[in-house]
Amino acid sequence: QEGDATAGETVFKKCAVCHVVDKDTNKVGPSLHGVIGRTAGTHADYKYSTAMIDAGKGGLVWNETTLRDYLHNPKAKVKGTKMVFPGLKDDTEISNLLAYLKQYSPQ
Ligand code: HEM
Repeated sequence: QEGDATAGETVFKKCAVCHVVDKDTNKVGPSLHGVIGRTAGTHADYKYSTAMIDAGKGGLVWNETTLRDYLHNPKAKVKGTKMVFPGLKDDTEISNLLAYLKQYSPQ
C-alpha cells in the first residue's frame, strides 16, 4: 500500500535532527538523498560504524523492505549500529515516511 508523502514529511522531523534528505549533506547521520537503492554503509564521505559497513558487505541494500525492517528496530536489523533511534512502531507512519524518502531517490 502506497504511503502519503506529505504525511511522511512530518514523520521525517523525527529523523531530521540527524539526517538531511533534500541535499547530499551529512550531519550526525549520513545524507538520505538517494538512499533507496544504495548499499548500506557506502556514502563516500560519511564515517559509519563497522557494523553498518559489514552489513553492506554482507549484501544489505536499502529498499522498501529493508528500510521498513531497519526503521522498526534499527539495532535488531543492524546489530551494533551507532544510530541511536528507538524505531517507529506504526506501519502507516513508516509507509508515509518511505513515500517521502522515495521523492529524493532516483529509482
Ligand atoms: C544511519 C534512516 C533517525 C543517526 C541511517 C541509515 C538510514 C537511516 C537508512 C543507513 C544509511 C546508509 O547506510 O547510508 C533514518 C530514518 C530516521 C533516522 C529514516 C527517522 C525515522 C536517526 C536519528 C539519528 C540517526 C534520530 C540520531 C539520533 C544515524 C547514524 C547513522 C544512521 C549515526 C549511521 C549508523 C552507523 O554507521 O551504524 N539512518 N534514521 N538516525 N542514522 Fe538514521
